[in-house]
Amino acid sequence: MPFPKGFLWGGATAANQYEGGYLSGGKGLAVADTLTGGDGIHGIPRKFIVEMPDGSRKEIFGSHAEVPGGAKAIVDPDTYYPSHVATDFYHHWKEDIALFAEMGMKCFRLSINWTRIYPNGDDETPNEEGIQFYINIFKECQKYGIEPLVTIYHFDCPLHLANEYDGMVSRHTVDAFTRYARTCFERFKGLVHYWLTINEININTNFMMNGVHDHISNQQNAEQARWNLFICSARAVVIGHEVDPTNKIGLMIAQMGSYPYSCNPEDVMAEVEGARDLKWLYGDVQCRGYYPSYKVKQLERDGIVIKKEEGDDEVLKEGVVDFYSFSYYNSFPMACKETLDREVGNMTDGNQMRGLKNPYLKASEWGWPIDPTGLRITLNQIWDRYQLPMIIVENGLGALDTVEEDGSINDDYRIDYMRTHIKAMKQAIEIDGVDLFGYTPWGHIDLVSAGTGEMRKRYGFIYVNMDDDGNGDLSRSKKKSFYYMKKVYESNGEDIE
Ligand code: BG6
Repeated sequence: MPFPKGFLWGGATAANQYEGGYLSGGKGLAVADTLTGGDGIHGIPRKFIVEMPDGSRKEIFGSHAEVPGGAKAIVDPDTYYPSHVATDFYHHWKEDIALFAEMGMKCFRLSINWTRIYPNGDDETPNEEGIQFYINIFKECQKYGIEPLVTIYHFDCPLHLANEYDGMVSRHTVDAFTRYARTCFERFKGLVHYWLTINEININTNFMMNGVHDHISNQQNAEQARWNLFICSARAVVIGHEVDPTNKIGLMIAQMGSYPYSCNPEDVMAEVEGARDLKWLYGDVQCRGYYPSYKVKQLERDGIVIKKEEGDDEVLKEGVVDFYSFSYYNSFPMACKETLDREVGNMTDGNQMRGLKNPYLKASEWGWPIDPTGLRITLNQIWDRYQLPMIIVENGLGALDTVEEDGSINDDYRIDYMRTHIKAMKQAIEIDGVDLFGYTPWGHIDLVSAGTGEMRKRYGFIYVNMDDDGNGDLSRSKKKSFYYMKKVYESNGEDIE
């Protein structure tokens, strides 16, 4: 039997894309609440509406776009924001958790909404109604034997901290996060055993995720925010262990697969450097507890001096993680400048970034390359580098679904995607011997896309009746993939055909 007993089969969500109830129960505004929807297939990006220091208004396009210093993102009453209702877990949590149990889920990944606990991010006391909301959810999970896997921070920087403090650039935000993390560990003690500190920490130093202004033009800001994020994560690990030594606390990285574009040594070296910047740095710091030599050298070359506070280096060492978690959707070839200049027209989309097309791979409707073998390679690379237990906390296919006249949704394309990726996991365990303890596919119930703000880019095995303009009664129904996943989960991965 390749999958170990107790393997955490599950599904994954994030509050800002799933929960809705954006001002209910005392919740405050997060940056995510100020991002509109876009149209990924036609290349129309999401946008922020901001107020500039001179009082004028400006639209800023692109979820990773640079927001200029002093600009404050706002909620415009005449604009539609998909996260405000999202797919309304806030009012459907009981029904949803019952469906998760029916699908055979053993684990439910969700994130706590920082602004539901601390509405401004930095309040002195937490919002009890917000805390109770999550306690109810965890108890409901317990009822069904579902283990919650909680992300403390998933793309929902409090708007107040973004607008007034430049988000994660500021130590004020780090301290506010520390208080927030402590509250989560203390108040959810005994109900939650598995935690992730910061979602996709490797693509996080921008306004959307962390309230960082000028993140492209001001490298000092970006590097400071990166350091501060590492401090947040490490402090959370230390506090989490102190509050309950049985807590298992992991990092979370957007683990894009990467290959050298060719055997030209220059392309190979470009991949070594590119992959370090993109992903390995984040594992190296959070698994080993210090900045690796290649990063120290780069900062020296670029003349960046990070502002550290007393105790930072020690906390980074102490706050190394218990396990390695990651999202995996696609891979990209990496290349040297000469190759890139030649192939410039040969780009495609992928999770949180664009990259060169790989001629050996097919792609999703959103252009994301589909590469199950890349998942096996990735599992091996992480295992070889860190020898830590791993869990895949996001993976899946964003696709257009059609509801037939009889209400059925025959998403065979999604089933194929799942089957090939689960097979790759199976091989990595059975043949390569990696230590993988769980799998929570992304958006197992339909939710709002982070990259494009669309509803029609669906990942779910459970359909939610809601469209890109906010029309729909939010009713839930089971897609064909629901039954496929149920079979896989109930057979502990034995039956994947
Ligand atoms: C990851 C994020 O980047 O990918 C999720 O952690 C996100 O929040 C997921 O939703 C899929 O990306 P997208 O853009 O298709 O929603």
